[in-house]
Amino acid sequence: MEVDGKSVRRSGKRRKTCCIAVIGSIVGIVILIVILAFTVFKAKRPVTTYDNLSIKDLDVSLDIAKVRVYINVSVGADVSVYNPNKVGYKYDNSTALLNYRGQLVGEAPLMAGEITAGGTEHINLTLTVMADRLLSNSDILSDVTSGALPFNTVVKLSGKVKILFFKIHADTSTTCDFNIYISNRTIGDQKCVYKTKI
Ligand SMILES: *[C@@H]1O[C@H](CO)[C@@H](O)[C@H](O)[C@H]1NC(C)=O
Ligand SMILES: *[C@@H]1O[C@H](CO)[C@@H](O)[C@H](O)[C@H]1NC(C)=O
Ligand SMILES: *[C@@H]1O[C@H](CO)[C@@H](O)[C@H](O)[C@H]1NC(C)=O
Ligand SMILES: *[C@@H]1O[C@H](CO)[C@@H](O)[C@H](O)[C@H]1NC(C)=O
Ligand SMILES: *[C@@H]1O[C@H](CO)[C@@H](O)[C@H](O)[C@H]1NC(C)=O
Repeated sequence: MEVDGKSVRRSGKRRKTCCIAVIGSIVGIVILIVILAFTVFKAKRPVTTYDNLSIKDLDVSLDIAKVRVYINVSVGADVSVYNPNKVGYKYDNSTALLNYRGQLVGEAPLMAGEITAGGTEHINLTLTVMADRLLSNSDILSDVTSGALPFNTVVKLSGKVKILFFKIHADTSTTCDFNIYISNRTIGDQKCVYKTKI
C-alpha cells in the first residue's frame, strides 16, 4: 500500500513537470511570435497626402438689406493614401470633414476599402458646404468683406493590417488649413499636417 502511494505521488510529480514544460514552450512560442509581430513584421502607418485642393463651385451673394451673405461652395480634395506595409491595409467607412472656424459645415463619405501591400489609393472627395450652417456663423460677414474664408479639412482613416494571426490597428489622419479667396476664386495659404497613429 505504501509503495503504491509513493509511485502514484511520483507519477503525479512527473505529470506536473511535463505540464510545466509544455506550458513553458507554449509561452515561449507566443512570446517569440509577439516579438516578431512587433519587430520584423511591425505594422507601419499609412500616409495620407493631399495632392490637390480646388474650388469646384463658389457662389457668393450679399443681401445688404438683411445684412446677410449667402455662400455656396464646394471644395475638391484629391488625396492619396500610401500603405507602406508588406500586407494589405483594410480601412473602415469614414467621413471627411470640412470646418469653417472650428464649426463643421460639410462632410463627404469615405467608403471602406483595402490598399494592397505597398500600394497607393487615390481618393477624390467633394466637400460641399451646407449653406445654412455657414449662414448661422457670425464671422462669415466680416470674412466675406475681407475676401478670405478660412477653412479646414480633416481626412481620417481607421483600419487594420493583418500580421500573422494579429489584426493590428493602424490609423491615419491629415488636416489641412487653407483660405478661399473670393476675388480670384483660388485656394491659398495651404498648411497640411500629417498625423499617423498605430
Ligand atoms: C486640381 O484640381 C483641379 C480641379 O479638378 C484641376 O483643374 C487642376 O488642374 C488640379 N491641379 C493639379 C495640380 O492637379
Ligand atoms: C445655393 O444653392 C441653393 C440650392 O442649391 C440655391 O437655392 C441658392 O440660390 C444658391 N445660392 C447661391 C448664392 O448661389
Ligand atoms: C459602409 O458603407 C456602405 C455604403 O454606405 C454600406 O453598404 C456598408 O454597410 C458600410 N459598412 C460598414 C461596416 O458600416
Ligand atoms: C482624381 O482626380 C485626378 C485629377 O483631378 C484624376 O487624374 C484622377 O483620375 C482622379 N481619381 C479618381 C479615383 O477619380
Ligand atoms: C488671390 O488673392 C489673394 C488675396 O487677394 C492673394 O493673396 C493670392 O495671391 C491670389 N492668388 C492668385 C493665384 O492670384
